[in-house]
Amino acid sequence: MSNKNQTLGEFIIENQASFKYTSGELSRLINSIRLAAKVVNHEVNKAGLVDIIGAAGDTNVQGEDQQKLDVYANDKFIQTLINRNIVCGIASEEEDDFIAINSQDENHQNKYVVLIDPLDGSSNIDVNVSVGTIFSVYRRVTPVGTPVQIEDFLQKGNQQVAAGYVIYGTSTMLVYTTGHGVNGFTLNPAIGSYYLSHPNMQFPEDGKIYSVNEGNYIHFPQGVKDYIKYCQEEEGDRPYTSRYIGSLVSDFHRNMIKGGIYMYPKSSKNSNGKLRLLYECNPMAFLAEQANGKACDGFTRILDIEPTELHQRVPFFCGSKNMVEKAEEFMKKAQ
Ligand code: AHG
Ligand code: MN
Ligand code: MN
Repeated sequence: MSNKNQTLGEFIIENQASFKYTSGELSRLINSIRLAAKVVNHEVNKAGLVDIIGAAGDTNVQGEDQQKLDVYANDKFIQTLINRNIVCGIASEEEDDFIAINSQDENHQNKYVVLIDPLDGSSNIDVNVSVGTIFSVYRRVTPVGTPVQIEDFLQKGNQQVAAGYVIYGTSTMLVYTTGHGVNGFTLNPAIGSYYLSHPNMQFPEDGKIYSVNEGNYIHFPQGVKDYIKYCQEEEGDRPYTSRYIGSLVSDFHRNMIKGGIYMYPKSSKNSNGKLRLLYECNPMAFLAEQANGKACDGFTRILDIEPTELHQRVPFFCGSKNMVEKAEEFMKKAQ
């Protein structure tokens, strides 16, 4: 069905019928994300010119204020979704509260909400290292036609209808799932089209890469310390290789292709770790499971966690199935 010459636009049309609800709204939503991603990609690519065109906080030649890239990305994604009148609500890492969208047409029929990390790994921008955008989509639970409420956003990850990320790397890719596997599309910047370069992506069941900020080792729970020592032992295919980019999207992307585990555990400093459940962990967990991988907080499946707050944090272990299960084993033993 899928072939590598296929563009994202063609793929969306061809696969629309397999969505659970086939109004075309979800297709239009993915379309807006691919558009906003192109605009953000263009801006991210210019980041190295910052000394020439002005840094965040400066005023550029047009008299416009230069924005930080995460603010810029936030505005672009929100604007695109609002202008195209596609969703009824948006929550973002960059916004304290969710945004309710009053659609222009009086019927107000939009039924999806989007949660987004507009620029993930933003500290990598200044050093020319890959960053990303993460998004998560739900059907609202409150009645269509009324303003969205917090409960439309605080849904368990297992209710997601779509999730994905954009990686602004050596190439720009859009990787997403609507619950029928994971597909990756690479942007050809010369013509502005995305092509299906990575159909049906799958985590290898086993891997040899572990990704964790080991500088925090001393603060990690005993189970994590034990698992890290296990990764470093000489036995069978171990020691594993350590790789940590410090941008979840990039670390996840590499591990999905090569096989590996990503961990951001809790520590004695951050009792819930650092990553955000709703727009970092849930979408990545949905993608991981759709790609034959696994994601947990050390004990519980990420997608089964009941959210209580928009910006809540959660410990995160994600990647190749056997590696995540091994980490869980160590967590349990040390409890
Ligand atoms: P963001 O740039 O959206 O704030 O996210 C950064 C996150 C994640 O992408 C990355 O893996 C992690 O923070 C890195 O944290 P440490 O620097 O603490 O390792
Ligand atoms: Mn992030
Ligand atoms: Mn961010």
